[in-house]
Amino acid sequence: MINSYYYAGQPHATKFTLVLAEAALEMVPAEIAGHPAVSSRARRLGAKASETLLDRSYHHAAMKNLDESWKRGRPDIVHFALVEALATPLFINNKLDVFVHTYGDKVISIAEGLRIPKSFFRFEGVMTSLFRDGAVKSDDGKVLLEMQDGTLEELIRDLEPDRVVGLSSAGVQSSAQQVVAKNRAGHCAFVVGAFPKGHFSEKTTQLFNCTYSIQDIGLETHVVIARILYECEKAT
Ligand SMILES: C[S@@+](CC[C@H](N)C(=O)[O-])C[C@H]1O[C@@H](n2cnc3c(N)ncnc32)[C@H](O)[C@@H]1O
Repeated sequence: MINSYYYAGQPHATKFTLVLAEAALEMVPAEIAGHPAVSSRARRLGAKASETLLDRSYHHAAMKNLDESWKRGRPDIVHFALVEALATPLFINNKLDVFVHTYGDKVISIAEGLRIPKSFFRFEGVMTSLFRDGAVKSDDGKVLLEMQDGTLEELIRDLEPDRVVGLSSAGVQSSAQQVVAKNRAGHCAFVVGAFPKGHFSEKTTQLFNCTYSIQDIGLETHVVIARILYECEKAT
Protein backbone atom coordinates (compact mmCIF):
# COMPACT_ATOMS: atom_id res chain seq x y z
CA MET A 1 0.00 0.00 0.00
CA ILE A 2 2.75 2.48 0.87
CA ASN A 3 4.62 4.88 -1.27
CA SER A 4 6.36 4.01 -4.43
CA TYR A 5 9.34 6.35 -3.80
CA TYR A 6 10.17 4.46 -0.61
CA TYR A 7 9.76 1.04 -2.10
CA ALA A 8 11.42 1.88 -5.41
CA GLY A 9 14.53 0.61 -3.63
CA GLN A 10 15.16 -1.20 -0.37
CA PRO A 11 14.51 0.78 2.83
CA HIS A 12 17.71 2.67 3.52
CA ALA A 13 19.45 1.40 6.68
CA THR A 14 20.76 4.82 7.73
CA LYS A 15 17.45 6.59 7.22
CA PHE A 16 15.17 7.70 9.99
CA THR A 17 11.42 7.73 9.62
CA LEU A 18 9.08 10.22 11.23
CA VAL A 19 5.42 9.29 11.53
CA LEU A 20 2.85 11.89 12.53
CA ALA A 21 0.21 9.70 14.14
CA GLU A 22 -3.54 10.03 14.68
CA ALA A 23 -3.24 13.41 12.94
CA ALA A 24 -6.20 15.75 13.42
CA LEU A 25 -6.64 16.04 9.65
CA GLU A 26 -9.87 15.02 7.92
CA MET A 27 -12.67 16.33 5.76
CA VAL A 28 -15.87 17.53 7.45
CA PRO A 29 -17.72 14.32 8.43
CA ALA A 30 -21.18 13.85 6.89
CA GLU A 31 -22.88 13.87 10.32
CA ILE A 32 -22.11 17.59 10.82
CA ALA A 33 -22.09 18.75 7.17
CA GLY A 34 -25.50 20.41 7.63
CA HIS A 35 -24.58 22.40 10.75
CA PRO A 36 -24.78 26.20 10.24
CA ALA A 37 -21.14 26.69 11.37
CA VAL A 38 -20.01 24.26 8.68
CA SER A 39 -22.17 25.59 5.86
CA SER A 40 -21.23 29.19 6.58
CA ARG A 41 -17.50 28.36 6.38
CA ALA A 42 -18.08 26.35 3.18
CA ARG A 43 -19.97 29.27 1.61
CA ARG A 44 -17.05 31.58 2.37
CA LEU A 45 -14.67 29.15 0.67
CA GLY A 46 -17.06 28.72 -2.25
CA ALA A 47 -17.09 24.93 -1.70
CA LYS A 48 -19.51 22.21 -0.62
CA ALA A 49 -19.36 21.46 3.13
CA SER A 50 -18.09 17.94 2.39
CA GLU A 51 -15.20 19.45 0.41
CA THR A 52 -13.78 21.43 3.35
CA LEU A 53 -11.31 20.36 6.04
CA LEU A 54 -12.65 19.89 9.54
CA ASP A 55 -11.21 22.84 11.48
CA ARG A 56 -12.03 23.68 15.07
CA SER A 57 -11.30 27.37 14.40
CA TYR A 58 -14.52 27.49 12.37
CA HIS A 59 -16.43 24.34 13.35
CA HIS A 60 -16.20 24.43 17.15
CA ALA A 61 -19.97 24.57 17.67
CA ALA A 62 -20.59 21.78 15.16
CA MET A 63 -17.93 19.49 16.65
CA LYS A 64 -19.53 19.21 20.10
CA ASN A 65 -21.19 15.87 19.35
CA LEU A 66 -18.37 14.27 17.38
CA ASP A 67 -16.61 11.22 18.87
CA GLU A 68 -13.28 12.16 20.48
CA SER A 69 -13.79 15.70 19.26
CA TRP A 70 -10.91 16.95 21.45
CA LYS A 71 -8.50 15.03 19.21
CA ARG A 72 -9.86 16.22 15.86
CA GLY A 73 -10.10 19.23 13.54
CA ARG A 74 -6.60 20.72 13.88
CA PRO A 75 -5.05 20.77 10.40
CA ASP A 76 -2.78 23.61 11.59
CA ILE A 77 -0.90 21.10 13.81
CA VAL A 78 -0.10 18.95 10.78
CA HIS A 79 0.86 22.07 8.82
CA PHE A 80 3.32 23.28 11.49
CA ALA A 81 4.74 19.78 11.88
CA LEU A 82 5.35 19.31 8.15
CA VAL A 83 6.81 22.80 7.69
CA GLU A 84 9.23 21.95 10.50
CA ALA A 85 10.16 18.41 9.40
CA LEU A 86 10.46 19.04 5.66
CA ALA A 87 12.76 22.04 6.16
CA THR A 88 15.35 20.07 8.17
CA PRO A 89 18.73 19.22 6.62
CA LEU A 90 17.91 15.58 7.45
CA PHE A 91 14.91 15.60 5.11
CA ILE A 92 16.56 17.78 2.47
CA ASN A 93 19.50 15.34 2.38
CA ASN A 94 17.14 12.33 1.99
CA LYS A 95 18.01 10.82 5.35
CA LEU A 96 14.45 11.09 6.60
CA ASP A 97 11.14 9.70 5.36
CA VAL A 98 7.97 11.34 6.62
CA PHE A 99 4.48 9.86 6.76
CA VAL A 100 1.22 11.17 8.16
CA HIS A 101 -1.31 8.73 9.62
CA THR A 102 -4.64 10.45 10.18
CA TYR A 103 -7.34 10.06 12.82
CA GLY A 104 -9.60 8.47 10.17
CA ASP A 105 -6.94 5.90 9.11
CA LYS A 106 -5.55 7.45 5.96
CA VAL A 107 -1.82 7.33 5.30
CA ILE A 108 -0.09 10.18 3.48
CA SER A 109 3.25 9.47 1.80
CA ILE A 110 5.54 12.40 1.07
CA ALA A 111 7.95 12.54 -1.86
CA GLU A 112 11.65 13.05 -1.22
CA GLY A 113 12.60 16.71 -1.05
CA LEU A 114 9.01 18.00 -1.01
CA ARG A 115 8.47 21.57 0.24
CA ILE A 116 5.13 22.23 1.87
CA PRO A 117 3.41 25.62 1.41
CA LYS A 118 4.15 27.99 4.30
CA SER A 119 0.78 29.68 3.88
CA PHE A 120 -1.96 27.79 5.72
CA PHE A 121 -4.47 28.83 3.09
CA ARG A 122 -2.41 27.11 0.39
CA PHE A 123 -1.76 24.07 2.62
CA GLU A 124 -5.52 23.74 3.13
CA GLY A 125 -6.01 23.76 -0.65
CA VAL A 126 -3.35 21.07 -1.15
CA MET A 127 -4.83 18.83 1.56
CA THR A 128 -8.35 19.24 0.19
CA SER A 129 -7.13 18.13 -3.25
CA LEU A 130 -5.29 15.20 -1.66
CA PHE A 131 -8.43 13.97 0.14
CA ARG A 132 -10.44 14.40 -3.07
CA ASP A 133 -8.02 12.92 -5.63
CA GLY A 134 -5.80 10.62 -3.54
CA ALA A 135 -2.65 12.24 -4.93
CA VAL A 136 -1.07 15.61 -5.65
CA LYS A 137 1.26 15.74 -8.63
CA SER A 138 3.76 18.27 -9.95
CA ASP A 139 3.24 19.91 -13.33
CA ASP A 140 5.46 17.25 -14.89
CA GLY A 141 3.41 14.41 -13.37
CA LYS A 142 5.63 13.44 -10.40
CA VAL A 143 3.63 12.24 -7.38
CA LEU A 144 4.35 14.66 -4.54
CA LEU A 145 1.79 13.47 -2.01
CA GLU A 146 -0.20 10.27 -2.01
CA MET A 147 -3.07 9.28 0.29
CA GLN A 148 -4.27 5.73 0.82
CA ASP A 149 -6.53 3.99 3.31
CA GLY A 150 -4.43 2.42 6.03
CA THR A 151 -4.01 2.01 9.74
CA LEU A 152 -0.86 2.95 11.63
CA GLU A 153 -0.30 -0.76 12.21
CA GLU A 154 -0.34 -1.41 8.45
CA LEU A 155 2.02 1.48 7.84
CA ILE A 156 4.50 0.20 10.42
CA ARG A 157 4.21 -3.32 9.03
CA ASP A 158 5.03 -2.06 5.52
CA LEU A 159 7.92 0.12 6.67
CA GLU A 160 9.51 -2.73 8.64
CA PRO A 161 11.57 -0.54 10.96
CA ASP A 162 13.99 -2.16 13.41
CA ARG A 163 12.49 -0.10 16.20
CA VAL A 164 9.35 1.97 16.71
CA VAL A 165 9.82 4.73 19.25
CA GLY A 166 6.82 6.63 20.59
CA LEU A 167 7.17 10.15 21.93
CA SER A 168 4.70 11.07 24.63
CA SER A 169 4.59 13.10 27.83
CA ALA A 170 3.44 9.83 29.41
CA GLY A 171 6.62 7.97 28.36
CA VAL A 172 9.79 7.13 30.26
CA GLN A 173 11.56 10.38 31.15
CA SER A 174 14.64 10.97 29.02
CA SER A 175 16.12 13.65 26.75
CA ALA A 176 15.91 13.98 22.97
CA GLN A 177 19.67 13.36 22.83
CA GLN A 178 19.43 10.11 24.82
CA VAL A 179 16.39 8.90 22.89
CA VAL A 180 18.24 9.21 19.60
CA ALA A 181 21.52 7.87 20.99
CA LYS A 182 19.71 4.70 22.14
CA ASN A 183 17.86 4.21 18.85
CA ARG A 184 20.16 5.44 16.10
CA ALA A 185 21.29 2.01 14.89
CA GLY A 186 19.42 0.49 11.95
CA HIS A 187 16.11 1.92 10.85
CA CYS A 188 14.19 3.72 13.58
CA ALA A 189 10.68 5.09 13.20
CA PHE A 190 9.82 7.92 15.58
CA VAL A 191 6.11 8.40 16.16
CA VAL A 192 4.80 11.79 17.29
CA GLY A 193 1.13 12.61 17.84
CA ALA A 194 -0.35 15.32 15.60
CA PHE A 195 -3.40 16.03 17.74
CA PRO A 196 -4.05 18.77 20.30
CA LYS A 197 -5.02 16.96 23.50
CA GLY A 198 -5.08 13.56 25.12
CA HIS A 199 -2.76 10.64 24.47
CA PHE A 200 -2.19 7.99 21.81
CA SER A 201 -4.87 5.31 21.63
CA GLU A 202 -4.08 1.92 23.14
CA LYS A 203 -3.92 0.50 19.59
CA THR A 204 -1.13 2.95 18.75
CA THR A 205 0.81 2.51 22.00
CA GLN A 206 0.94 -1.26 21.45
CA LEU A 207 3.00 -0.71 18.29
CA PHE A 208 5.86 0.98 20.15
CA ASN A 209 9.00 -0.84 21.29
CA CYS A 210 9.45 1.96 23.80
CA THR A 211 7.89 5.31 24.65
CA TYR A 212 9.85 8.32 25.88
CA SER A 213 9.05 11.70 27.32
CA ILE A 214 11.70 14.28 26.46
CA GLN A 215 10.52 17.01 28.86
CA ASP A 216 8.70 17.08 32.18
CA ILE A 217 5.82 19.00 30.58
CA GLY A 218 3.62 18.41 27.53
CA LEU A 219 5.17 19.94 24.40
CA GLU A 220 3.68 20.89 21.06
CA THR A 221 4.13 18.45 18.18
CA HIS A 222 6.44 20.71 16.16
CA VAL A 223 8.73 21.30 19.16
CA VAL A 224 9.13 17.55 19.75
CA ILE A 225 9.84 17.03 16.04
CA ALA A 226 12.45 19.81 15.97
CA ARG A 227 14.27 18.39 18.98
CA ILE A 228 14.28 14.76 17.83
CA LEU A 229 15.25 15.55 14.24
CA TYR A 230 18.11 17.80 15.32
CA GLU A 231 19.52 14.95 17.40
CA CYS A 232 19.08 12.57 14.42
CA GLU A 233 20.93 15.06 12.24
CA LYS A 234 23.83 15.23 14.70
CA ALA A 235 23.90 11.43 14.87
CA THR A 236 24.32 10.93 11.10
C1 LIG B 1 0.14 18.48 21.90
S1 LIG B 1 0.83 16.91 22.26
C2 LIG B 1 -0.56 15.96 22.68
C3 LIG B 1 -0.89 16.18 24.10
C4 LIG B 1 -0.49 15.06 25.07
N1 LIG B 1 -1.23 15.31 26.29
C5 LIG B 1 0.97 14.96 25.40
O1 LIG B 1 1.44 15.77 26.21
O2 LIG B 1 1.66 14.05 24.89
C6 LIG B 1 1.26 16.31 20.71
C7 LIG B 1 2.33 15.25 20.69
O3 LIG B 1 3.59 15.78 21.09
C8 LIG B 1 4.36 14.74 21.69
N2 LIG B 1 4.75 15.20 23.03
C9 LIG B 1 4.16 16.16 23.76
N3 LIG B 1 4.82 16.33 24.92
C10 LIG B 1 5.85 15.45 24.91
C11 LIG B 1 6.91 15.14 25.82
N4 LIG B 1 7.04 15.75 26.98
N5 LIG B 1 7.79 14.18 25.46
C12 LIG B 1 7.69 13.53 24.28
N6 LIG B 1 6.72 13.79 23.39
C13 LIG B 1 5.81 14.73 23.70
C14 LIG B 1 3.49 13.50 21.72
O4 LIG B 1 3.81 12.66 20.61
C15 LIG B 1 2.10 14.07 21.60
O5 LIG B 1 1.20 13.16 21.05
